[in-house]
Amino acid sequence: MRQRSEHSASEPIDSQLADNPLYQKFKQRADDDKPPSRSNALGAIAHARSPGVTSRRALADAILNQDKGLVVGHFGTIRYKPASVCGIDLKLEPLHPSIGTIVHGIDLTTDLTTKEMVTFLRELWLERRVIGFRNQNHLSRHQLVEFAEKFGEVGAQFGEREHKPNSPHDINQQIKVPDIPDMLVLPSDEVVPNAASGWHSDATWQERPPMGSILMCREAPPIGGDTCFCDCYAMWEGLPLATKRRVEFLRAVHVGSVGHQMDGKTPSAVHPVARTHPETCHTTLFVQQGFVRRFADEHNIEPEEERELLWQMRMQEGRPEYTCRFAWEAGSIAMWDNRAVLHSASGDFWPHRRMMERLTILDYDKTRRTPFYAPKEQSQPSH
Ligand SMILES: [Fe+2]
Repeated sequence: MRQRSEHSASEPIDSQLADNPLYQKFKQRADDDKPPSRSNALGAIAHARSPGVTSRRALADAILNQDKGLVVGHFGTIRYKPASVCGIDLKLEPLHPSIGTIVHGIDLTTDLTTKEMVTFLRELWLERRVIGFRNQNHLSRHQLVEFAEKFGEVGAQFGEREHKPNSPHDINQQIKVPDIPDMLVLPSDEVVPNAASGWHSDATWQERPPMGSILMCREAPPIGGDTCFCDCYAMWEGLPLATKRRVEFLRAVHVGSVGHQMDGKTPSAVHPVARTHPETCHTTLFVQQGFVRRFADEHNIEPEEERELLWQMRMQEGRPEYTCRFAWEAGSIAMWDNRAVLHSASGDFWPHRRMMERLTILDYDKTRRTPFYAPKEQSQPSH
């Protein structure tokens, strides 16, 4: 069961933040008793849960009071499919008919020594696009890196190494992990409400966005803070036919946020709207509200039509039929295929603490790293 944190809000969630200027700005807002902004999902939900409260302290206390005793145990059935791999009995719990499976019965520090097990997990990951694990908090950060290396090349914090964000405007980049500069630490607590709560695929503003991402939860809120995933194959299939025909061969511009800037320059990349998954050969809709701003200039699309087309695509994001949720506990890990699902944190847990660690993974096969579109009849599965 998830435990409520006993940490004091006056202590930074990580000691490295204490003298950090960005953290100090957050801290000042907290010291001034200003509630979290409604422009952030964490703030919006907080105000919805306790309307009309203008004091941050009172707002936090009111919510903590609502949450007191909300989770005091758990029971119930888990639906699963058994699988035996290399003599290890696994239980595979589907989160949704198409995407997301939690693999129970595995210890990631000891059970990945055989090629068969790694192959099994990678094929499961390709098919289900998100796989999760429970009770892995005994993995050190280095062991998490070793786990990631079984599936791909560990990338920099945002994938490819050419781009090294050095923006002071991203709290996630302020915590440096000794010896593991590739690891991104995602802190959130009462002082720093922080969650990537919008549909996106990681770092698509890179020319070669990361194949996959791994998220490890070190500390979970007692409830809330799930990560949601959305099926990009279904997003493509669900587009109105006329829209599909219109956008099939278009390219779109993906623009990073201010937190992704390097030397003050915002990164961007142009990618196909319809993308062929380089391993499964399925067509995905490779457009998401997180980073896509417009279509490529070469198409000369009128602003009104551009808005309408982007809106049609946005309507596909997060439809219940396309999505699953992964609820975190300390020691839970999720690994997803950025080429086939979008994800969004559920920013509903302020003022609780949530501490995550993220790694990106790049395809070992470099020829598959750049997004492309090959209409169905021309593309061939690569495995
Ligand atoms: Fe993300």
